Formats: sequence, structure tokens, C-alpha cells
Amino acid sequence: VLVPVERATVSVYDRGFLYGDAVFETIRTYEGEPFRLEEHIDRLGWSAERVGMKLTLSSADQVAEVRSALKKVEAERGEPGDLVARIMITRGEGPFGLDPAGATTPCRVLFIHPYRPLPDKDRTDGVSAITYATYRPSDAARGAKVGNYLESIVALREARARGAHEAIILGVDGQVLEGTTSNVFAVRGGRLLTPPTSLPILPGITRGLVLDAASDAGLVAEERPLAPADLHDADELFVTSTIRELLSITRIDDRPVGAGVPGPKTRALYEAFRRNAGLPPP
Ligand code: PDD
Repeated sequence: VLVPVERATVSVYDRGFLYGDAVFETIRTYEGEPFRLEEHIDRLGWSAERVGMKLTLSSADQVAEVRSALKKVEAERGEPGDLVARIMITRGEGPFGLDPAGATTPCRVLFIHPYRPLPDKDRTDGVSAITYATYRPSDAARGAKVGNYLESIVALREARARGAHEAIILGVDGQVLEGTTSNVFAVRGGRLLTPPTSLPILPGITRGLVLDAASDAGLVAEERPLAPADLHDADELFVTSTIRELLSITRIDDRPVGAGVPGPKTRALYEAFRRNAGLPPP
């Protein structure tokens, strides 16, 4: 059922609300076509499996549902522009208490929103980030996209209080993990560095595409643990996500990164990422 947001309701006994007992995905369209939809649906299935949640739709039906909802919203909207689809699946309603056995029917909500491009200034000047120390030693469901983002929310709140766009989460040993809703990359000499997925990070779909594009930009990709110093001493830094694609970080912890402006390697990677994905140049 497609309803206006103000008419959509979820139970107060829903475990997504009570415990963050949920998995989700965010997908965007480019000129009407959802980008890497099948990969997002695969990751959703994988996330659900990691937390022992049984989905009621097959992957094929889930793909079809997203496509048909996007089409309907596009037709009703009557204005051009890309859309964002967010699929939220909670374990559903259950009695109080952590034991998930009482929740038998997952609750699925599909949001369709207009895509809001980043401010031009963020693209041309890059943005600032802070590093944020946490005790994230591992996840309950490593690599799954689960509903509880409290650590990231607190980190982002700190970043915004310090006038920064993004917080880069550091793990329990001080190692670099990822942004609050992004993966992080450093360029040093001819190398493209990013933390490996053996650490508790989300294996971002954009991240994978950027690693694939490294050689096109004349870089050698290296997935290895990074220390904050690797970020501070980088020639170029950027974050990746479905929504932001590649976005230059030009200041970190109140210091400029490299020349303090978006770098040529990040630009080359961004162009290669778009080209490989069959998208027009940025
Ligand atoms: N989140 N790491 C985290 C913790 C994220 O939440 C996200 C994206 C990423 C990047 O993944 P991808 O390239 O597949 O989008 C990494 C989505 C966009 C969100 O905020 O809803």
C-alpha cells in the first residue's frame, strides 16, 4: 500500500523502535534507474541473515516492489529529479523483552523521497571531518546494515558541534574504521588506502566500485588497517556512500589535508567511478 508519510504508522511495540532490531538499505536513482538495486537487495538479505531475521519477500519480489514504487511515485510527482528509496525492515511487533522469539512477522516500510544533491560548495571545496574515538571492538552483526546507529549519531553530533561534515569512527585500538554513513579512503603517493572489510565496517557498494576504479585512476588499491596518522598525512582524503558518491575531505581534525582542496586523484577516481557505472561525467 502506497500512502502519504503522514498516514503511515508503526506499532509502539515494534522492535525496530524498542531496540533498533532492524535492517535497512538506501538506494538512489540516476535518471529514473535505481543504482545497483540487486546488490543492495542482496546486502539486505545478508544483513537479515546475520541477525537471524526471516524476510517474507524473495529478492526478486523485493527488487520488483522497489521498482514499482519508484515508478508510481515518479508518475504522481510530475517533476523530474532523482529519488531515494529506503527499505526498512524490523523484526516486527513482540512482547517486551529482548528474546526475538515472540516476534514472528517482520514489518517492512519502503520510503521514497526526492534525492537532494549536495550543496555545490561541498563538491567544489570539499568538506571537513573529525576523527571520533569509540569502543567499537566488533559488531553483533559485523558488516550488516542494522537499525542501531546510535554510536554514529553521537559521533555526527560531535562533528556538527565542531563545524565538521562527517566523523570518522576509530575503533577500540584507535584504528580507522569508516564514516558515520560512509566509507573512508586516503590517497598517498600512488596508493589508494582503505580499511579492510575484516574490520567492523559496512562493505559499502560505492566502496567496492571505487576500489574497482583505482587502476583507471593510476592508483594501486590497498585494503589495510589505517591509523589516524594515515589520514592526517594523506595527500587526499575522501568518503564514499550511495548518497554522496565520492566526496573530498579537505580538512581533518582542524588541519588541511594535502593542499587543502579536492585533489586530482579523487577527481580521477570520481570520473572513473561514474564512467564504469555508465553514468555521465560528474
Ligand atoms: N549508508 N558505512 C556506513 C556505516 C553506512 O551507513 C553507509 C551508507 C556506508 C556506505 O555504503 P554504500 O556505499 O553502500 O552506500 C558505509 C546509507 C547510504 C545510509 O546512510 O542510509
